[in-house]
Amino acid sequence: MAIIKKFRIKHFKKNRPIIEINNMSLSFGSKKILDNVSFKINEGQIMGLLGPNGAGKSTVFNLITGLIKPNFGKIIISSTTVNNYPIYLRTKKFNIGYVPQYGGYFHDLTLLENLKAIGEILILDKKIRIERINSLISKFELDSSRDTKAEHLSGGQRKRLVIALALLGSPKILLLDEPFAALDVLTIKMLQQIIVNLQSENNISIMLCDHQARDLLSCVDVAIVLSDCKIIAKGTPSELVNNTEARFAYFGDSFKFN
Ligand SMILES: Nc1ncnc2c1ncn2[C@@H]1O[C@H](COP(=O)(O)OP(=O)(O)O)[C@@H](O)[C@H]1O
Ligand SMILES: [Mg+2]
Repeated sequence: MAIIKKFRIKHFKKNRPIIEINNMSLSFGSKKILDNVSFKINEGQIMGLLGPNGAGKSTVFNLITGLIKPNFGKIIISSTTVNNYPIYLRTKKFNIGYVPQYGGYFHDLTLLENLKAIGEILILDKKIRIERINSLISKFELDSSRDTKAEHLSGGQRKRLVIALALLGSPKILLLDEPFAALDVLTIKMLQQIIVNLQSENNISIMLCDHQARDLLSCVDVAIVLSDCKIIAKGTPSELVNNTEARFAYFGDSFKFN
């Protein structure tokens, strides 16, 4: 944790919101998922979304990318209300990279072919495209696996591939849905460092979610806790773990974080 914290460059963070969710509510049929949820992410910030399984974390990402629409409330990206923007326009206009909870790659293509397939859509200049692909492969230490089929990569390599795919278009906003799920401790640490470096080197605004508090809190500036359709706590990692309501509803009394 300490190693990761060393990489934080606080002065990059501005107080200008890049994503704002205002009074958002959503039900699937008669089942309420989000009830009057509001939060914002500032430019250059890493924001974590915590909540138990089924709390609605992926749903929040789906609302931001436009895969689903809220029943009430506004989604504002870079000061523009985007509720009526289709998915492709949101992604393109606001330069959003999205790493879904599951999948996000072509199983039967090699790692390199995956990057080429998406790269050819996003980067028209061949020389720039090849340079970008090679720099991502080397940055994410995937050189030895470039010709391995994605379905044969390890879980950590696959996750790095999907993050690399999301970064091909040099996004300003990166959404990561449970990036640490089912990975070993060392791979989680590597990903945490990648996330923090992305922020400090490229000033990308990042939102990530997880149901495991410890892994997420090690690499975010601020986080929110979603429980029973509402945000029950917001703040820095240390503020959150000392928040009585969050301890009661989510962290539990024995939870420690330093
Ligand atoms: N398209 C859908 N139709 C109906 N129910 C859904 C749909 N998507 C998600 N849900 C339900 O909404 C709740 C929140 O799901 P999700 O956002 O995937 O939770 P999380 O990512 O926090 O685990 C769950 O109860 C899930 O079953
Ligand atoms: Mg989910």
